[in-house]
Amino acid sequence: MNMKKKVALVFGTRPEAVKMAPIIKELQKHQDMDTKVIVTAQHREMLDQFLKLFDITPDNDLDIMEPNQTLTRITTKALEGLEKIFIEEKPDLVLTQGDTTTSFVAALAAFYQKIAVGHVEAGLRTDNKYDPYPEEMNRRLITTLGDLNFAPTPVSTGNLLKNGVVKDTIFLTGNTVIDALLYIAGREDIPIPEEVKNCLMPGKRILLAEAHRRENLGKPMENICQAMLDLVSDFPDTQLVFSVHKNPKVRETVFGMLQGKERITLLEPVDYQVLVWLMKHSYLILTDSGGIQEEGPSLAKPVLVMRKTTERPEGVDAGTAKLVGVESADIYREAAELLNDREAYEKMAKAANPYGDGQAARRTVEAVRYWLGLQNERPDEFIWNK
Ligand code: UD1
Repeated sequence: MNMKKKVALVFGTRPEAVKMAPIIKELQKHQDMDTKVIVTAQHREMLDQFLKLFDITPDNDLDIMEPNQTLTRITTKALEGLEKIFIEEKPDLVLTQGDTTTSFVAALAAFYQKIAVGHVEAGLRTDNKYDPYPEEMNRRLITTLGDLNFAPTPVSTGNLLKNGVVKDTIFLTGNTVIDALLYIAGREDIPIPEEVKNCLMPGKRILLAEAHRRENLGKPMENICQAMLDLVSDFPDTQLVFSVHKNPKVRETVFGMLQGKERITLLEPVDYQVLVWLMKHSYLILTDSGGIQEEGPSLAKPVLVMRKTTERPEGVDAGTAKLVGVESADIYREAAELLNDREAYEKMAKAANPYGDGQAARRTVEAVRYWLGLQNERPDEFIWNK
């Protein structure tokens, strides 16, 4: 009889894959555990790119993505698919990451089968149920459904405690995004495609942009693009490189407003190692992404967060990120200041590691092993470098 403890990891989008990959690699080191990788493929191309890079082959692939999918459609397709797999596989623990619809549905499907749930990157909050939408609600629901919480920072630990989560179920691990970042930054054997290298214009300061959030679709995305047009036109020594998400609604606005414009380069979603390379070569990052807010400080790059709220106040507190909202004039003003004022720039462009130290996956797996009765001690805690 197989007495190995079975841990199933469920994810569906690129950011979840980035943050789950280090945990998969760490789990696979243990002979007394059986690791199952289940992808909903809420994203197809953007997920597959990443799986290839990290050499991860899913055990199950629900392949649910369809064009212009609604939240209801993602939820119902993933819920039915996961039910079948959980009944067959009977994992001892399901790990879910973050706050996407896949993350929430994984917790719900596990709960329906009375399977324990561990939440990676638990405790992020904006305290505004519609911002980000639907992610803030997904996070809260996963906390309610979950059993084990892997908190990236003391701020997130505090949020969980405020929500009434039992202290013993919280493990302060750091964020696995830093594990993934350090791994990729160290892989010099993975080539950067010549066409990416060649797209950077010599002598120009690179403004790297990325935006895709649901609450930013439509008018806010137009504002973002307008700010980019104005910046590039007023600062002739800059080049805008925009990595355009696969969401058709994002593409319509971004391609519609920015394609073919001078010193503006639009890229298809790039592989993770290319994104890291672009971040390293940029002067300034403008984004609404969560992961990039975490990666920027590690790479000593100022990040302007084009959102009204952030669940990641640590970078703002450390002085490496700034919340600038979604009005063109505000985005323009904040970016222009960093382009004009060397001192203001230097103040933001400093390395800070409020999100992790590269040991988060090890701590997460040790916490899982502790909880499953495979080790006696709780893992050490991530020490916050404020
Ligand atoms: C999802 C997550 C969001 C996360 C983001 C990262 C939810 C509700 N949102 O948002 O939290 O920050 O992923 O990227 O879970 N598409 C493709 N190919 C791809 C990926 C997407 O064609 O590889 C298209 C599909 O037509 C899809 C649309 O993009 O309908 C939007 O994708 P969806 O997963 O619904 O939401 P995202 O905006 O990507």
